[in-house]
Amino acid sequence: MNRYTEPKYRTILDAKENELGQLQEKSASSAWKPAYHIHPGYGLMNDPNGLAYYNGEYHVFYQWYPFGPTHGMKHWAHVKSKDLLDWDRLPTAIVPVENYESHGAYSGASIEVDGELYLYYTGNIKYSAEERSANQCLAIMDKDGVIRKYEQNPIIEGVPEGYTGHVRDPKVFMKNDTYYMLLGAQRSNLTGAIIVYESSNARDWSFKGELELELNLPDTCYMLECPDYFELNGQDVFVVSPQGLEAGKHAYQNLYNVIYVLGKMDIENLTFKVESHHELDKGFDFYAPQTFEGKNKERLLFGWAGMGEMDYPSDKEGWAHCLTIPRELDVVDGRLIQKPARELEKLRLEPAEGEFSLDQGSTGISTGSDQYELVLSLESIESEIFGLQLCSSEAERLVLEFNRTEQTVTLDRENFADAFGAEHGFERSSDLEIGDSVELQIFVDRSIVEIFINGGKTVFTARVFPHKESTGIKVFADGKMRGTHSHYRLVS
Ligand code: FRU
Repeated sequence: MNRYTEPKYRTILDAKENELGQLQEKSASSAWKPAYHIHPGYGLMNDPNGLAYYNGEYHVFYQWYPFGPTHGMKHWAHVKSKDLLDWDRLPTAIVPVENYESHGAYSGASIEVDGELYLYYTGNIKYSAEERSANQCLAIMDKDGVIRKYEQNPIIEGVPEGYTGHVRDPKVFMKNDTYYMLLGAQRSNLTGAIIVYESSNARDWSFKGELELELNLPDTCYMLECPDYFELNGQDVFVVSPQGLEAGKHAYQNLYNVIYVLGKMDIENLTFKVESHHELDKGFDFYAPQTFEGKNKERLLFGWAGMGEMDYPSDKEGWAHCLTIPRELDVVDGRLIQKPARELEKLRLEPAEGEFSLDQGSTGISTGSDQYELVLSLESIESEIFGLQLCSSEAERLVLEFNRTEQTVTLDRENFADAFGAEHGFERSSDLEIGDSVELQIFVDRSIVEIFINGGKTVFTARVFPHKESTGIKVFADGKMRGTHSHYRLVS
């Protein structure tokens, strides 16, 4: 079959003279570019890939299309850091120039093998706009940071029988001296599945079968992307990005969603016994997260703060999307808890603390920065409806509203001159147990807001594109409410 061609399937090696420099220049002056969130210099970023703390440094790779805010030929871009805070951009790690990756180096994860970092990824192959296949591939980074594609790529050619060409996003882990690879897949009947390969040396792989995941996903679920698996606090945790789930009242409100599953993995027998499952993030822009073990053996997560099939206001500046801050995970009382990685405290500048008290109405609690952390404690709440406004000015505001009668929390991003994503709605909501107090920890970095509620039990990630003057923070309540706040500027 012929390979499919389209202008968006070219690599940086095909760039015209000065083309990349011009792309860089176009997006350099953006007022929406975050500082402490990993983001693309230009072009489109999506999933975090190959995450590792390796050889004393953090490595983050990510899906990257250089030539504009489009899902085109995906490369693996690469940044590294010693402290999770300052990131250095490195040369593009994987440029898809080989036949076995003719339409992009798609997502995957990494694992250290014999002192080298094995980067697994999917070579995407397209025969037409609809027909595709996939090869699983390996690139190896040595201690000097040199990355080479494995000479015997692809390590898995094509897809097993019974599945369509949608097989991708390898996640490799080791159990009892055997390496296992999880892959997101689509069965021939167009439903989503996880398939498993095994290997004794992390290079030669054989098909083992399909993972029996007792999740009872509806038949509308046509694909499972980006599987991840790890053990934490004696629990097995499986994270996956399903496509095709139908929205519920306070569930699956995005086009694509992410769930975590707690239970027991028996990989040798291909079963995962499910105890519970929940959505990982309740905001608008969160997908394809990946986890890895940090410096202190903690489990860290980065997610893509973006969503497919949607236009974003920064598109016109020639760049799109960013990652979340690194989040530290924990399992407490049958729930996965997400907290900002402890390293982020080192960014705190100019602490400003205060108290507030109101009886119907609203009060401003701080302003003047668009890159900050806010720790807010809403105490003695004698109100039914209360909450806060961020990125606010006369004309604009992001509204987080708690409803005690309904025991829900809602985030509304409609009120911005550059509001976007109307086709998928301006509100996201979650059930929440609301008593007399609510604890909030919030990170704002120009065009991204991450809200951790009650110690990270419920998290909302949202992109917003405010005007420069929209930096206000206000609390409001329809009755009495008191509280305290600590504000830290994060960028000088
Ligand atoms: C998820 C995803 C992955 C794929 C990659 C391509 O956002 O669709 O399944 O590998 O993006 O960029």
